[in-house]
Amino acid sequence: MADISIDPIVQRPRRLRRTPAIRRMVAETRLDPADLVLPMFAVEGLTEPREIATMPGVWQHTKESLQKAVHDAADAGVGAVMLFGTPLERDPIGSQAWNPHGILANAVRWAVEAEPELPVIADVCLDEFTDHGHCGVLAPDGTVDNDATLPLYAKMSVVLADAGAAMLGPSGMMDGQIAVIRKALDDAGHTDIVLMAYSAKYASGFFGPFREAVDSQLKGDRRAYQQDPANAIESLREIELDLEQGADFVMVKPAMAYLDVLAAARAISNVPVAAYVVSGEYSMIEFAARAGALDRKRCIMEALTSVKRAGASTIVTYWATEVATWLNEVRS
Ligand code: PBG
Repeated sequence: MADISIDPIVQRPRRLRRTPAIRRMVAETRLDPADLVLPMFAVEGLTEPREIATMPGVWQHTKESLQKAVHDAADAGVGAVMLFGTPLERDPIGSQAWNPHGILANAVRWAVEAEPELPVIADVCLDEFTDHGHCGVLAPDGTVDNDATLPLYAKMSVVLADAGAAMLGPSGMMDGQIAVIRKALDDAGHTDIVLMAYSAKYASGFFGPFREAVDSQLKGDRRAYQQDPANAIESLREIELDLEQGADFVMVKPAMAYLDVLAAARAISNVPVAAYVVSGEYSMIEFAARAGALDRKRCIMEALTSVKRAGASTIVTYWATEVATWLNEVRS
């Protein structure tokens, strides 16, 4: 064996790390404002925007504040906005979800009016609209009835497409939802609506802060329809099924706790792969930074870069506009 203590060190990886300019030149992963999607919350009957206590820096919007935030996102070059709506009235079947003048359809119209060129993604799920908080209707035994929920997603999707959504994000984890929505859209003449399928969505504790954002009524959990955090191979099945059914995008959610799933999703998909950095992932960094434990900007950039490095070409993040602004500053 050669005596390495006297051999010259020919291989010095540190050469490529020596200066900021060299590091920039050889960076394998770059974030771009267009990669980022901003999720937003529209609340029916709200008269003043309201900051969400569990998600500092994220707001429940009125029409005016939503339109301003959509302008700011577009000005910063963000790729798209994603809308969630919270209605005043809830019922067991979530019927405000397909009200053509309900909060979500209205919010889609407000966003499109504010920035006609910016793609608007509308969430397709019933959880904000049901009085029990589940993502679908309940069977008599209290479980979520997959097949009875599908036609409601179909109705909701057509209403949101009629309102001007360029893309829909079915997030309810019902089996067969992409096929049913695709057919309903086609039958209504909406053949060009992009379906961003929440293919691999886990029953995650990291959704916690989102519950306040949408005033969720949920008691219990979603483990009978969202995926078990223990499973990765099962995600590949979910992705294949969504692609067969006509998905244009697939998504992994949450992001940072599922980077292995994200890399596997990238490897098997021939469509863009999105990842959703969810409310809990946002709030962890925000609260740790407020406590002085983390460098906020550095950790946000590291978090989003890691999600892109793992395989996401699109990142849904509550930091979208701010990070896009930082990226623009670096360039100018
Ligand atoms: C369900 C939905 C949820 C989120 C997005 N869509 C909550 C859930 O499934 O319990 C969570 C988003 C986040 O935590 O940022 N429509």
